[in-house]
Amino acid sequence: MFLARDPASLDRALAGARRRRRRVGLVPTMGALHAGHETLIRESLHRCDRTVVSIYVNPLQFDSAADFGRYPRPLRRDLAVLRRLGVDVAYCPKPSVFPAGCALRVTEPRVSEILEGRVRPGHFEGVLTIVAKLFLQVRPTHVFFGEKDFQQLWLIRRLLREFRFGIELVAVPTVREPSGLACSSRNELLSARGRRRAAEIYHALSSAARRAGSGGRPVSIVAQVRRRLMEKKIRPEYIVLVDPVDFTPARRLIRPGARPRLLAGCRIDGIHLIDNISIP
Ligand code: PAF
Repeated sequence: MFLARDPASLDRALAGARRRRRRVGLVPTMGALHAGHETLIRESLHRCDRTVVSIYVNPLQFDSAADFGRYPRPLRRDLAVLRRLGVDVAYCPKPSVFPAGCALRVTEPRVSEILEGRVRPGHFEGVLTIVAKLFLQVRPTHVFFGEKDFQQLWLIRRLLREFRFGIELVAVPTVREPSGLACSSRNELLSARGRRRAAEIYHALSSAARRAGSGGRPVSIVAQVRRRLMEKKIRPEYIVLVDPVDFTPARRLIRPGARPRLLAGCRIDGIHLIDNISIP
């Protein structure tokens, strides 16, 4: 595996593949790799001729220095995982590649401001800015993102479309721990009890989704999730049903075939966790 620390070494590593117009897959990550990342990487290895995994804990997308500081950074372990999986290039940009105070940002004024954007102001501006830069540096043919970060996925799809990057987006379903908890690097920060409680987020979402089916009323679906979480002493930061196409809250009766998405954000042990599920 080639370890690239700046765009010039990345260009050297990918020159042959680009010249021969090979499929180059990019899996952007912030490290602390888990089973969810492994699924994204395997998907890229399966579909592409070369797979690049970027590891960069992006300060722009954290709304507090404390959250940025405590984000797990097990780089040595992560690189061992990438080698084991057979990744071609690990891109771990050194700090000078994205200097602090870089002025240009990519913003989206509507979807970026709600839900996760409200809980974590500036988060999506940070994500879109760094992801656009990674796309320009790696110049992949395919990019791989997980459905767990459903709002992020929607915004990245929008970024690719509006800026006409010419990159194919592959959305990969959420990978879960046996308890149902969605895999996330943040799970490492939970206590054993917190981890058990966190699995309730998925159970609350999935039992409401099962009961809803088509024709359910969004307010009662949301109320069911809230009730179940409150019973388990989990206070949600938001619960919402959105139309997956335009990302507007679904307010009326669910149209047959619309497949709205039920999303929740909660704080457990002081750690912000998210999950989402499709309404059948
Ligand atoms: O989903 C993530 O891990 C991050 O938001 C991403 C896409 C790697 C950008 O820093």
